[in-house]
Amino acid sequence: MNISISGAGYVGLIQAAGLAKLGHKVVCVDVDREKVQKINDKKPPIYEKGLKTLIQRLVPKRLTATTNLRDAVLKSQITFVCVGTPSMIHGEIKLHQMQKICEDIGQVLREKKAPHVVAIKSTVVPGTCQTIVVPTLERTSGKKLGDGLGVTMNPEFLREGSALEDFFSPDRIVLGSSDQKSIDALKTLYTSFKCPILETNFGEAEMIKYASNAMLATKISFINEIGNICKKMGIDTNKVAKGVGLDYRIGPHFLRSGIGFGGSCFPKDVSALLHKSLELGYHARILRAVLDVNKDQPLKFLELVENTLGNIKGKRIALLGLTFKAETDDVRESPSLSIIKEFVMQQAQLYIFDPMGIPAVRTLFPQLNYAKSAQEAVDKAEIVCILTEWPEFKKVGYGEKMVIDGKNVFETDKRPKNYQGICW
Ligand code: UGA
Repeated sequence: MNISISGAGYVGLIQAAGLAKLGHKVVCVDVDREKVQKINDKKPPIYEKGLKTLIQRLVPKRLTATTNLRDAVLKSQITFVCVGTPSMIHGEIKLHQMQKICEDIGQVLREKKAPHVVAIKSTVVPGTCQTIVVPTLERTSGKKLGDGLGVTMNPEFLREGSALEDFFSPDRIVLGSSDQKSIDALKTLYTSFKCPILETNFGEAEMIKYASNAMLATKISFINEIGNICKKMGIDTNKVAKGVGLDYRIGPHFLRSGIGFGGSCFPKDVSALLHKSLELGYHARILRAVLDVNKDQPLKFLELVENTLGNIKGKRIALLGLTFKAETDDVRESPSLSIIKEFVMQQAQLYIFDPMGIPAVRTLFPQLNYAKSAQEAVDKAEIVCILTEWPEFKKVGYGEKMVIDGKNVFETDKRPKNYQGICW
């Protein structure tokens, strides 16, 4: 099938590469010329495990990029919308990109005779498809849903760092629409997947995405709360999490305590859902608490450093890890950033290292010292803070230096000599 993908960010690019690998002919559309050029030059504009190899194999035969939306939509049967849905200052979702792309696609569809399906991959608050996407597409295309125009909400559940694995082995595929033909059109793309395909209406599909991320974020804040209590009582949270996770009703995943969740999804999505519920007159207390615990977790880490060092001013601190998790170059909403800000305010002497996150953080904090390796940072410092679970941090020689671990990097019997964990 010929497929166009609007928005060549994390989600769009993975969807594009994944569908192209399955045998479809895919064109990515983006307003960013540099990004488009990079894809056509077989250079992935972002780092994601396995993406480079796939792009090198698929471009230009089955995967290309363009800035020309009209051409891409006219030559395809399905358009995936993967534009960003960022947060406003108070956490509510910004839908202007979604609105604009629906207008642009609708205008192209006005001149298209053959039926076309628009599949929404972007995370949008419940109600968006029904009240914005469908009416905008109908108004600008002059067509009606179910009559030459298809719309499906098809949320993504990809994790950065293992997004391609997640694309090819999904736990489930959710297809939401009020039009069965739109759902059936999307289903044909996913026939090779063995997972359940859940058919829903628009709102249910939109909410499944938010509720999934909110549930995962809740598990993390929950175990961090338990961890904070354990730490005060000298109990190892890791053992507790293991014991709790063995209950099949709870499961072992997302019970890793630490400095809290970051990234472009959990903080933004929990805030957007909280905000949406407030708009409807409901105060979502669990969601509020999930965000509150998460915001405080980096402070717990700082407390530990202060308790160890006393006054932080002028102290030489190695800070290992900038990205919000390992295997990505993404530092968005990374807890490391709030910890760095606090250290800078308290005039610590920082020696910073991360295998992939330095370029992004250097633009935010150009005045800081960035080391060439974790070992170099450690050698210059009197205390070490670990803020991302990069496996290479296990192999550094820490000697007698105090290592404060915010991410549970070491197995219990392989910890450095002088060591403290944030919740264990
Ligand atoms: C998350 C979801 O896991 C995906 O299913 C979803 O598709 C994606 O958001 C999205 O909405 O696009 P991602 O943000 O890439 O994926 O990363 P996760 O692996 O979920 O980790 C999120 C944060 O939680 C990281 O900072 C990680 O270190 C932290 N985390 C995760 C913990 O602190 N403890 C855990 O046990 C697990």
